[in-house]
Amino acid sequence: MSKLWGGRFTKETNKLVEEYTASIAYDQRLAFEDIEGSLAHVQMLGECGILPKEDAEKIKEGLEKIAEKIKNGEVEFSVDNEDIHMNIEKMLIDEIGPVGGKLHTGRSRNDQVATDMHLYVRKTTKEMISLITHVQEALLVQAKANTETMMPGYTHLQRAQPVLFAHHLLAYFWMLERDKERFADSLKRTDWLPLGAGALAGTTFPIDRERTRELLGFGRIYPNSLDAVSDRDFVLEFLANASILMAHISRLSEEMVIWSSQEFQFIELDDSFCTGSSIMPQKKNPDVPELLRGKTGRVFGHLLGLLTVLKGLPLAYNKDMQEDKEGIFDTADTLEGALKLLALMIETMKVNKEKMFKAVSNDYSNATDIADYLAKKGLPFREAHAVIGQIVLYAIQNDKFLLDLTLDEYKRFSPLFEKDIFEVLKPEHVVKARNSTGGTGHEQVAAQLVMAEKQLENG
Ligand code: ARG
Repeated sequence: MSKLWGGRFTKETNKLVEEYTASIAYDQRLAFEDIEGSLAHVQMLGECGILPKEDAEKIKEGLEKIAEKIKNGEVEFSVDNEDIHMNIEKMLIDEIGPVGGKLHTGRSRNDQVATDMHLYVRKTTKEMISLITHVQEALLVQAKANTETMMPGYTHLQRAQPVLFAHHLLAYFWMLERDKERFADSLKRTDWLPLGAGALAGTTFPIDRERTRELLGFGRIYPNSLDAVSDRDFVLEFLANASILMAHISRLSEEMVIWSSQEFQFIELDDSFCTGSSIMPQKKNPDVPELLRGKTGRVFGHLLGLLTVLKGLPLAYNKDMQEDKEGIFDTADTLEGALKLLALMIETMKVNKEKMFKAVSNDYSNATDIADYLAKKGLPFREAHAVIGQIVLYAIQNDKFLLDLTLDEYKRFSPLFEKDIFEVLKPEHVVKARNSTGGTGHEQVAAQLVMAEKQLENG
């Protein structure tokens, strides 16, 4: 079959080469972006008198028909035409005749594909922002239901100080808020339009790049045609933002796996989010958070993959750049699934408040508060810390928790201890007392919830 670019060639393309170099199998995902870009281009060509108005009109109608056919699943793409751009151009010529061949005037596939990618990344970034918001909403609902729920807070995965479960969940809310902000910020740079850069050097036709910019709703045009067709920073940025987001999703997933283990039993994931074992009938496996954690690897991989593809490329377009697509498509699909599942999983999980409370009541995570108690009575904190170290050791050796010791026992370590130490050591008090801004104290968490809600409203 003759190629759109076949004129210079004396031989047919080797079949294996054709299959190996074709991108149609995956870039057909850009069909509507491709048509959108072409519609703006041809409109501009008509307005500038580069094409007769009737020709531009015919081409537009042809493109719209093709879009309709694609929507209805009536077209078949073919590797004979390599990629989405040439598939659509070929369809156009089949649809409206040789006049379809005028669409590519003053344009190259190089500025065309870059434009398609910009349109795709812009759309997908907005979708991600809205999906992240759903997860934040789910976190907020659970946080509101758990403003009294106490759990051990950890460092080094060792019990450290008790916190409110709401506080723990809200930590993820703010992480996701930064993820959203990063995606939103990247839109500034995705908002540059490469169309009109031609193959690399511009074009001899008197095109109006500002007009296509306006038609496609971009903020500005690339000032340099070489940069316009070589730039994939906006794809990298999407992948980088996706990677950071996935790292957050993975951390929360890991916590959900730990919390739902027999050892912790802090939460129970809904049955509809777990699977059983083919051999061990008692098992309820947290497959979904495990897989979210696992899928993080491929997203990081796509970022590193594209960084590596781009790092040694001379200007301007090189075929290597076709490798920008599968990674970002897979990343978008992975994230979409992850964010939807995560929101549902958070909404439907059961929080085992009693288990969490039992955990904070049976540990030494109130030790810091004894140190603070003595420090408030004038003992330098360092000295207080040493005294409490001895108390904790004494308690452990006598198989007691700090609330089980008697006042006499306390007084043996320091005369500063009074009866009120037993009030100070209760988990409720330990949490409530951390009333510094952004702390886990009830008042602070209530204020944080208000802030989080406002953030979503203004989102
Ligand atoms: N399929 C190509 C890509 O995705 C389109 C651009 C091709 N340009 C070229 N000069 N071969 O990168």
